[in-house]
Amino acid sequence: MIIRIIVLLFARGIVIPLMAAPQSLDARGRNAEAAEEKGVIRLNTPESFLKRMHRHLAPTMAKDFPNLPVIGEEGCYYLGLDGRKYLDFTSGIAVTNVGHRHPKVVEAIKRAADRLLHGPMGVIVYESALKLAEELARILPEGLDSFFFGNSGTEAVEGAIKLAKHVTGKPCVVSFTGCFHGRTLGALSLSTSKSKYRKHLHAVSGVYQIPYADPRGCPPDREPARWCVEELDKNLEHLFQHQVSPEEIACVILEPILGEGGYIVPPRQWLVRLREICDRHGILLVFDEVQTGFGRTGQWFAAQTFGVTPDIMAIAKGIASGLPLGVTAASRELMQKWTPGAHATTFGGNPIACEAALATIRVIEEENLLANCRQMGAYAREKLDKLAEKHARIGDVRSVGLMIGIEIIDPETGEPDGEALLKILHRCAEYGVLFYLCGNRGEVIRMIPPLTVNRDQIDEGLKVLDRVLAELEAGHPVP
Ligand SMILES: Cc1ncc(COP(=O)(O)O)c(C=O)c1O
Repeated sequence: MIIRIIVLLFARGIVIPLMAAPQSLDARGRNAEAAEEKGVIRLNTPESFLKRMHRHLAPTMAKDFPNLPVIGEEGCYYLGLDGRKYLDFTSGIAVTNVGHRHPKVVEAIKRAADRLLHGPMGVIVYESALKLAEELARILPEGLDSFFFGNSGTEAVEGAIKLAKHVTGKPCVVSFTGCFHGRTLGALSLSTSKSKYRKHLHAVSGVYQIPYADPRGCPPDREPARWCVEELDKNLEHLFQHQVSPEEIACVILEPILGEGGYIVPPRQWLVRLREICDRHGILLVFDEVQTGFGRTGQWFAAQTFGVTPDIMAIAKGIASGLPLGVTAASRELMQKWTPGAHATTFGGNPIACEAALATIRVIEEENLLANCRQMGAYAREKLDKLAEKHARIGDVRSVGLMIGIEIIDPETGEPDGEALLKILHRCAEYGVLFYLCGNRGEVIRMIPPLTVNRDQIDEGLKVLDRVLAELEAGHPVP
């Protein structure tokens, strides 16, 4: 086994750093061998990788889950350094919606790189950016037809807030408890999914938070949608009376489905009411669709899934299949009020990223991935509901399309159990399936496979989850 690993690593040109730590590789090899006999796949991170990671990468990045050493990616899989294929139900955190390294996207990137590498917009103008803007105008909800191109989700959010403040001339913003909008100081000031993200943050002024819709809190004798709407009315009324008047509020920003905060799906009526209240008070409504966008909910955007159109939208992640691209979208009427120079970027709308986005849109349409997302989402949901009946560890399953949250609880107390969840995710990874996590206490399994996923792959992934939950319950490996 050890020889096999070394030969494999030699073939991939990484034997020298590994030779520097023969002892630990040996130990790891033995563990892997023993584990393999039991049918378990051990994550085999070479000691040299760990050392290099911890020497030169900031711990804030380097200590995440699962730090799988990979040498490649393809379709729904990562190719591990250990030579195994790992079924990826994270989509690189909701990015590779058309699958990892889709051949048509790769081809578009190669062609683009042969022509134009850097597009400092303003200095030059080029076809891919113009074409992408036209394509986005076609697939976004009607009325959102003008775009600012940046590099990331955070930047798309920052752009949205700046635009809202600029065009309304108002200073304040309302966001929702539990939402995540990014990690720069402005976007972070709006984000409350976890307090650890905000450590030592002196939030920008003029940000107010109210609770997100949470149907789980609905009293048993009430109808959840109506109750959520009444709570929203109450919370906003209270905010307007005690803290900030609506005339001072530029925009209300939210994720149309709570992402990082635990995959909570608000009732449609709640979003409809929010739209009405914003209209009544001349407040702009901003949807952060960084995670919900680009097909994840079974439509291009959650705005279309819910039938509620915001004034401004932030888009990133899945748009360019892995290349950095963020978009702030609004109506032409609104965007025309953003005066020249008020906002700009050096790299935003990079020509290669724009071509990757155009290819991504083509693939989603040619391969009917929105329909596949809805079908596979329903298929996975049915299976997960059955798993929830079987395993007391599953407290709740929530989903729209292929945006699926599986809440893990302590069966004794019914309380969210982030510790057990981490064990489950590690074990699943050892068996070759990657899930991610979310929720304020890290208690929700985030299942977001590529939209190309098929029934066999869902069966494969959920079989592993089933087995791992059974092991946890039994307190020992289950064959
Ligand atoms: C809803 C939402 N908004 C914004 C962001 C920030 O995006 P990025 O990491 O590309 O800056 C994320 C990232 O996870 C997100 O999920």
